[in-house]
Amino acid sequence: MDYNRFISSYYRGEKKGNYMIRKMALLAETVPEAVDLTSGMPSWDTFPISSATFKCKNGTTLELSEDEMKDITPYQSSQGMTELLTWIRKFHEKYHSPPLMDNENSERRFDICVTPGAMGAMSVLFPIIMERNDVVLLEEFNYPGTTNNIDKVSAYPIELSMDEFGVKPDALVDAIVNWKQKAIESGAPNPDDLNPPKVFYTVPIGHNPTGIVVPLQRKKEIYKIAQKYNLLIVEDDPYFYFQYDEIFTPSYQSIDVDGRVIRIDSMAKFFAPGLRIGWVTGPSKIIRTVIPAQVSATIAPGAFAQIAVLKLFGKTGMVGFQDRIQELKNFYKPKRDLSVSLLKKHLKDDVEWIEPQAGIFLWMKLKNLSDSMIFIDSEDCRKYGVFVVPGAGFLVRPKGPCPYLRISFTRMSTEDLEKGIICLSQWIKDATRKELSGI
Ligand SMILES: Cc1ncc(COP(=O)(O)O)c(C=O)c1O
Repeated sequence: MDYNRFISSYYRGEKKGNYMIRKMALLAETVPEAVDLTSGMPSWDTFPISSATFKCKNGTTLELSEDEMKDITPYQSSQGMTELLTWIRKFHEKYHSPPLMDNENSERRFDICVTPGAMGAMSVLFPIIMERNDVVLLEEFNYPGTTNNIDKVSAYPIELSMDEFGVKPDALVDAIVNWKQKAIESGAPNPDDLNPPKVFYTVPIGHNPTGIVVPLQRKKEIYKIAQKYNLLIVEDDPYFYFQYDEIFTPSYQSIDVDGRVIRIDSMAKFFAPGLRIGWVTGPSKIIRTVIPAQVSATIAPGAFAQIAVLKLFGKTGMVGFQDRIQELKNFYKPKRDLSVSLLKKHLKDDVEWIEPQAGIFLWMKLKNLSDSMIFIDSEDCRKYGVFVVPGAGFLVRPKGPCPYLRISFTRMSTEDLEKGIICLSQWIKDATRKELSGI
């Protein structure tokens, strides 16, 4: 693969930033007997915290000794802590067996960069793999954090229609071949300035907002198309470990024989979102560009968060992680089931839905109402005592009435979940009556 095709002009160019301080500091580390007068690192003597104890809800205590604290309080490697990188590598071996894990081609070989969550990954990755006027292909409904990051680099998103298995292969081919026509149809102000698509971004498991899981067969079809038209696939997969079936649907990374998949993982939903831990993996040529990009973004993800993940999962190998997967499944699957049974009971004449096989969202289509924007009326939200997100919030660009809405079933008690769906049902029924009677 010629990765230059996928690296923006700034990151391809000579001047990718000034990292002299960091370079000298790293060099100094290799000669411990020399006096290091390089970086603006404060003295350990002035750091207020000397050690720490994390108490887990299961009774385990995780100690952070003074020596460990000495290790984590200075500026950290922009790639991530070495031990965490080792753990992540093992983790990918187990869950994704990347075909290019130890590939002899140093550009295509599997590599890792730890980031502050998936958003942190997108914010450093997107300016590398897309630039002004690049057409980017993605699902027709999207997590707004993604589209905001595409907007920030002034790339032009084109949405692809989906069925119950995700993006339709013929929609992908159609958009690759007829991208300019699609851009014109979608109202691009400058279609002649746009560049043909090189990147396909997808959330293949427990898709946000639709909850869809893309089966392996569909992934293989999409991957073949990406090979034929030389696309990079960005697999943003924060819900991979929230699969409710016994057998996990494999990732794009697990079928990536070319080195054209960049995978984003997140501990936000799996561990705690406030810790801001995720990572991006894929061909070294791209990941090795992400690492310096992170220096000028956040320098490195927070060390407490990295050590917390390591302390929690590092010692137990993969066992602790597997237990956690099971724990989350035991917690969320009954809530998913309850949500679906409540929809059947209270809303079957009013909405259609796809039962999510993964993730934390339930996506529904209003059968008798043309637009779900009525659900943002703050007076009505108070009156009915429930808040949901209208489907328009997941559109790449406004498209007229959108009859979808998304609910999340994770946070509330089962009583509140039931109460919320009953309130929503009442609201939908009242709104339908109003719409039908033309009030
Ligand atoms: C598809 C998708 N990508 C990225 C994110 C952001 O994840 P993080 O909290 O790890 O930044 C979310 C969060 O909801 C998401 O649904």
